[in-house]
Amino acid sequence: MTQQDKHFHMSDDYEYHSSSQKRTGRFVIQQTVEMATSQFKNPQKLKVLDIACGPGNLTIEFFHALQQSFPDTKIDMAGLDYSEHNVKRLIESSGKTVQGIVGSFYKFPPEIKNEDIIFSNHGLHWQPPYKMSDIMYMYLGYEERAQFELQALQNFKITMRNIHEAMNDGGIAVLQFGQERQIEKLWDLVHEIFNHSPFKEFKSKVNFPVYHPSVENIYSSLKEAGFAEENINLKTFAEDLEEDTALDVTNFFRGFTEPGIRQFFTQNNVDVFYKKIEYELNNTNINEFRKGLLRSTLIKLKK
Ligand SMILES: C[S@@+](CC[C@H](N)C(=O)[O-])C[C@H]1O[C@@H](n2cnc3c(N)ncnc32)[C@H](O)[C@@H]1O
Repeated sequence: MTQQDKHFHMSDDYEYHSSSQKRTGRFVIQQTVEMATSQFKNPQKLKVLDIACGPGNLTIEFFHALQQSFPDTKIDMAGLDYSEHNVKRLIESSGKTVQGIVGSFYKFPPEIKNEDIIFSNHGLHWQPPYKMSDIMYMYLGYEERAQFELQALQNFKITMRNIHEAMNDGGIAVLQFGQERQIEKLWDLVHEIFNHSPFKEFKSKVNFPVYHPSVENIYSSLKEAGFAEENINLKTFAEDLEEDTALDVTNFFRGFTEPGIRQFFTQNNVDVFYKKIEYELNNTNINEFRKGLLRSTLIKLKK
């Protein structure tokens, strides 16, 4: 793997600077538990998977919420993430009550099968490494963007097929990920910073491989994966960013971008880069800026 081929990892501080992701995650947990209690009546065991679990703080909250709602059921919970470091954190923080699986949602490891409940929060919009001429696909020219979107949609379809195949008949999945134009104003600000020295030379090197599929593309992917139309419930929603100061918004962005940035920047430039973001945000009406910035898609599925 060349430097550019490395996956984008979350920083060690991600958990401390992810209030927005936590708030959405708690809402998704609540939705999943509600759906599970209406779908499963006193089961002996529930096999549960959290895809792209990150450091696992939400996985553990989800585990406890299910234990409370199903006191007589054995909850067999696992978190999947490609970051071995995150998976280790999950196993340790849960006191080994939750299993950790290192692997990708683009190719499930063999132990992911016969799942009763699949959950995912703020993960499925991450694509594998992809080299492009700008920091993010929104800023690519027509042809390059179309090429990226084609490949990204194929990857999304693979994930939906993997999820369908891994579910038991009667199983449920609740998946939340970025909607088109998620945190767009923040990307615009960062993109503008990349137009200037000393960051300009890195514009085509630092790639944030995210993809936000349209509602139409999500529906067609789910149907192709095997989900019946009556078993698909999709909604989109927008939340204000929880972070409400220039520093907190900067740290929110830093939490999921710093290790990727670090591959290319000197330590000094890393600090200058995030200071510049904070400086620009300080010159912005932050309350206006954070309004409705976090755009999400939530899908509830049954098999
Ligand atoms: C923004 S974090 C979300 C973590 C957690 N679910 C939350 O809501 O706080 C995204 C996570 O997706 C993981 N990830 C990205 N692409 C992945 C893939 N192809 N397979 C497994 N995990 C992946 C990253 O390692 C990262 O931990």
